[in-house]
Amino acid sequence: MVLSTLFQILKKNSRLTRRQACRLGGVLGISFYSLGRFRVRDVFARNRKISSEEERMNLPAPMLDGDVSVEEAIKQRRTVRSFANKPLTVSQLSQILWTAQGITDDRGLKRAAPSGGALYPIDIYAVVGKNAVQELAPGVYHYDPPHHSIEQIVATDAREGVAVASLRQMWMATAPVILVITAEYNRITIKYGDRGRRYAMIEVGHIGQNIFLQCQALGLAAGIVGAFHDNDVARTINAQKNHEPLIIMPVGWS
Ligand SMILES: Cc1cc2nc3c(=O)[nH]c(=O)nc-3n(C[C@H](O)[C@H](O)[C@H](O)COP(=O)(O)O)c2cc1C
Repeated sequence: MVLSTLFQILKKNSRLTRRQACRLGGVLGISFYSLGRFRVRDVFARNRKISSEEERMNLPAPMLDGDVSVEEAIKQRRTVRSFANKPLTVSQLSQILWTAQGITDDRGLKRAAPSGGALYPIDIYAVVGKNAVQELAPGVYHYDPPHHSIEQIVATDAREGVAVASLRQMWMATAPVILVITAEYNRITIKYGDRGRRYAMIEVGHIGQNIFLQCQALGLAAGIVGAFHDNDVARTINAQKNHEPLIIMPVGWS
């Protein structure tokens, strides 16, 4: 009863930041994990703003079958460092984002990659180049798994900036799309303490392999980059506060 009343108060007060909400939970001796996880996470998911329907672009539904076996995709997968000057379709981008973090169960709770405590501390930003995804303006887009939609948060081609911040690995900027995968550690350390950081890093590994194998199955290719200046990448993509870049994956045609 007390928990449900508190939940209702928090739900109505979307101006509380996650930090304030967590602090309040701490004072009351509870973790939000026990409070209807999905809804609470939804309410506190945005530090910046909650986007309106008009600002959000719904993505096409993902395909649930393909022509390439998992075994073939694993056998063929390689880190690619040079991409053809050929755009992706929105459907391909949609498929890759879904494979990384898309919702995969009927209740809308579980995602494509496993997550410690199903707390999902990971976010995906798609850095899209000029004429790089058909019918999509260049910019940086944040993926919203519950709505399978994207929201534009930067309106210029930021690929070169990301490549420069990645110790000038300029090959990255040849990819039509660069995925920056970030962790917001306090979403998981609230339950697991410092060990939650380890869980977030393991989760990113699962997501990375999903992206690699999905690209392979679509006839596309991906690279992976861990060498970069975290703050410079975060600034370049206008990442939300506390979203720390963990790995970067350029994707496109090889
Ligand atoms: C965590 C991690 C960080 C990496 N960082 C970079 C990087 O900064 N630049 C790069 O060109 N490759 C990077 N790689 C790719 C590796 O060099 C590549 O996976 C390795 O050579 C094996 O080749 P394969 O992926 O084609 O099997 C990274 C791979 C991982 C898993």
